[in-house]
Amino acid sequence: MSDTERDEAAPLSAEDAGAASEDAPKQPRKKNKNKKWMVLGIVVVAVAALGFGFNAWHSTPGFCSAICHTPMDAYTKTFIDGNVDKYGNELTSDEAVGMMAYSHGKSGAANCLSCHVPTLGEQMSEGAAWVAGDYEIAGVNKQGDSILETRTYDQLVAARGLDSGDQFCLNSTCHANADGTPMTRDDLVKATANLADERNPHAQPHGATKCGDCHKGHEQSVNTCSKCHTDAPIPQGWLTYSQAQEKEQLA
Ligand code: HEC
Ligand code: HEC
Ligand code: HEC
Repeated sequence: MSDTERDEAAPLSAEDAGAASEDAPKQPRKKNKNKKWMVLGIVVVAVAALGFGFNAWHSTPGFCSAICHTPMDAYTKTFIDGNVDKYGNELTSDEAVGMMAYSHGKSGAANCLSCHVPTLGEQMSEGAAWVAGDYEIAGVNKQGDSILETRTYDQLVAARGLDSGDQFCLNSTCHANADGTPMTRDDLVKATANLADERNPHAQPHGATKCGDCHKGHEQSVNTCSKCHTDAPIPQGWLTYSQAQEKEQLA
């Protein structure tokens, strides 16, 4: 599936590192210059290797916690063992599956950066914001961990450098058709036709919805249709609209 494609993408930088080391011996033979080139070669290889190591580490949840641990611990917990949601509510393993970060992590489909694909600009501004201590903490959750203001789906899409719409989830690496093209909403409705007879949650009979209205990364997902349609299906691990209102509280 797409997750393996993503995993295979990482070694690219390893090849870069390899290419750099092959270049080094091809340098001119003159003695003095030789030494210079050798040093340069070593530096190039070291930088490339460092870059590769960094890249590999960067894509693990540990990185997010180790580097910026103040604001990331709460999110790492929702991903690794799913015992708590980002508000610090304790969850059973049946409840945890309704949390997308946990369910995608558990199935091996995604790590932090598969969903939060960082653009260069975003990494730079995030780094700068962290160094300056300039990130908005929404408060402390029920486990004593700081959490950030919840990002809107539009902010998440923009942070990935995508246009708008459904692309955070519907794209060629994540939710794609069998032929590899990104799913459209219609494709998704067809693919999840089993969900409901008349009221497929992916249909938009009352106007546009966003994936993030219902599918939550770091808390249990919620079927918002249940706000009015009390018979809307609430899958395992999911919440009704009113249950979600109760859980989305800080300490
Ligand atoms: C399956 C996709 C997915 C994965 C994997 C994922 N996230 Fe998220 N993340 C989201 C979504 C969706 C949101 C928007 C808020 C929400 O739904 O909880 C979000 C929001 C965030 C936010 C912003 C604060 C907020 O509550 O909106 C942070 C910080 C964050 N994630 C960190 C992480 C870290 C750290 C990891 C890995 C340990 C991770 N995410 C893994 C989908 C994901
Ligand atoms: C109104 C609420 C709602 C919205 C909006 C929504 N979904 Fe869903 N989605 C659900 C429900 C409910 C399920 C059933 C989940 C289950 O059975 O565990 C589901 C299931 C799915 C599944 C199947 C998961 C599986 O386990 O087979 C996919 C994929 C999916 N949604 C993707 C999306 C994407 C992508 C978007 C945005 C384009 C989206 N959904 C928007 C409510 C919603
Ligand atoms: C704010 C309240 C509200 C929400 C939220 C809501 N609906 Fe409705 N919906 C209604 C009302 C009221 C009707 C009945 C209109 C009528 O009978 O003419 C209706 C009717 C429908 C119908 C027409 C067939 C029927 O069952 O009566 C469909 C299909 C439908 N809704 C799907 C959805 C889906 C899917 C969602 C979630 C994405 C959703 N609705 C969310 C209020 C809502």
